[in-house]
Amino acid sequence: MKIAIKFILTGLTLLLIAQGCAPQPTMAPTAAPAMLTSALATPSTSPATPRPKKTYQNLVVGFSQIGAESEWRTADTISIKQEAARLGVDLIFMDAQQEQENQILAIRTFIAEKVDVIGISAVVETGWGDIFKEAKAAGIPVIFVDRLADIPTDDYVTYLGSDFLEEGRKAARVMATLTNGNANIIELEGTIDSAPAVDRSIGFREILKGYPNMKIIDSESGDFTRARGLEVMRTILQEHGKNITAVFAQNDDMGLGAIQAIQEYGLKPGVDIKIVSVDAEKEAFQAMIAGTLNATVECNPLLGPTFFELALKVANGETVPKRVPSAESIFFPDNAATILLTRKY
Ligand code: AHR
Repeated sequence: MKIAIKFILTGLTLLLIAQGCAPQPTMAPTAAPAMLTSALATPSTSPATPRPKKTYQNLVVGFSQIGAESEWRTADTISIKQEAARLGVDLIFMDAQQEQENQILAIRTFIAEKVDVIGISAVVETGWGDIFKEAKAAGIPVIFVDRLADIPTDDYVTYLGSDFLEEGRKAARVMATLTNGNANIIELEGTIDSAPAVDRSIGFREILKGYPNMKIIDSESGDFTRARGLEVMRTILQEHGKNITAVFAQNDDMGLGAIQAIQEYGLKPGVDIKIVSVDAEKEAFQAMIAGTLNATVECNPLLGPTFFELALKVANGETVPKRVPSAESIFFPDNAATILLTRKY
């Protein structure tokens, strides 16, 4: 069965590649149980299914990943693939290379393949049309992982991921402490219309309302990549120069790019310009140890174990929470060296 599915998928994929628009699929055979670490909010029931009870060994899961724009994303992909391999789940993994169109094609492929569950991290919030209704009509439950789309709640079963609004709020509170409530801030925004970019911006501004002397003097998208963070920050420095006293980078990769741009400009990141970013990747800890980054707000990418636990439950028609949040912290330079030893991404 698995072999047959893979052959059909290969045919479909070749057709899509011939059309010049295929996402990149990889598949992992796999094996064992994970744990549903946390649960919140309204319970949701997955669509009733007459199928015989599923186990990890006969579960087929289609997963549409955004791409590989950051170290965070790479860690997320590894977590999903490794857990599928460990459990024995038949994972059809498609890399959308940052394109929404590729994610829509991937979902259509998963529907055609009659997978048991679809997992997706939505590159942007809007513009999905009826694709999730199509999955629902086909009786395939959809689980959002990391990023949710702006669609009716009835069109998906559950959403596993971070509280991006709270991450923005945390970053602003830390920034207020670092700058004593006086700052000219540059915001390096993530991918436009993506859930983390939208919500981190809102959360950050919400807290800033209580600090009249903290102002965002410029906000530009660095698309969650280091290369764009560097490029955008170079341009911003040319315009605002020493007037800048703080940077809120909506992820570590853009923050690391900004650090390089600030050094090139002749200022000291972390000292002349306070920097707070999001994700808590290993390189952010190294930057804190070097004194160039002042804090990083954690966003947990290690979602594979909880995702497959949810996937098996919904495939068997079990009730799962509508929202499954990740447990997250904030990290500072004072104990960065110790904590770095325990970081997995
Ligand atoms: O959706 C999570 C965000 O996406 C991470 O903060 C960022 O690094 C990634 O690209």
